[in-house]
Amino acid sequence: MSDSPKAGPRIKVIKDGPYLVRGGVPLNEERIVRGPDGEPCRWEKGESYPDKESYSLCRCGASKAKPYCDGSHVEAAFDGRETAGHGPYLENVERTVGPGIDLTYSEEFCACVRFCHGGKGAWSYAEASGDPEARARAVEEACACPSGSLVAWDKTTGAAIEPACEPGISLIEDPRSGVSGPLWVKGAIPIESADGVEYERRNRVTLCRCGRSARKPFCDGSHLAAGFKSKP
Ligand code: FES
Repeated sequence: MSDSPKAGPRIKVIKDGPYLVRGGVPLNEERIVRGPDGEPCRWEKGESYPDKESYSLCRCGASKAKPYCDGSHVEAAFDGRETAGHGPYLENVERTVGPGIDLTYSEEFCACVRFCHGGKGAWSYAEASGDPEARARAVEEACACPSGSLVAWDKTTGAAIEPACEPGISLIEDPRSGVSGPLWVKGAIPIESADGVEYERRNRVTLCRCGRSARKPFCDGSHLAAGFKSKP
């Protein structure tokens, strides 16, 4: 008898509860490293978590066993209603057209992680992208954006320039600011809402884990004002 095929990676949003992750999705921590100007400049690997075929990740921010769910959402009477739309990313973007690169930005997906603010900022680099160095910097900053709200587009092929992402989830930590950020979901893992509708599959998105986002399940940067900390 042959083994049944292994289910692929998948995330299911549970109504007023956690994210149920299936398919052996690797889980680790990535920390934001800030440059001399105080803006994020690179990622640093943090803690790794044991491999598991399935697990539930806290979505309300109240678990005492973060990043995992411990059922605290019940006592906290967590309202996890999903308010994000299911439309595609490109439906609602601002486009910056540069001589060497184009950028698209969607406020709807932005998690305020600010890799696009390094140096002169991604938009200034795109406008100056006739210069190869400025073009490279615009691409670098767009590709470092964990939420995929900022995307660089090749002028010749018209294709998105995406970082290579294996399926996985990273817990974002920002030690310099003393806050914890969202779940960085990589590699186009399908994300299904509580009502069974799948969101657009994207190479990178960020999911709220503090419970405060007004655009659940996606992070909208509210963890910053809330001073969310995933660890004591
Ligand atoms: S983790 Fe960013 S808004 Fe909740």
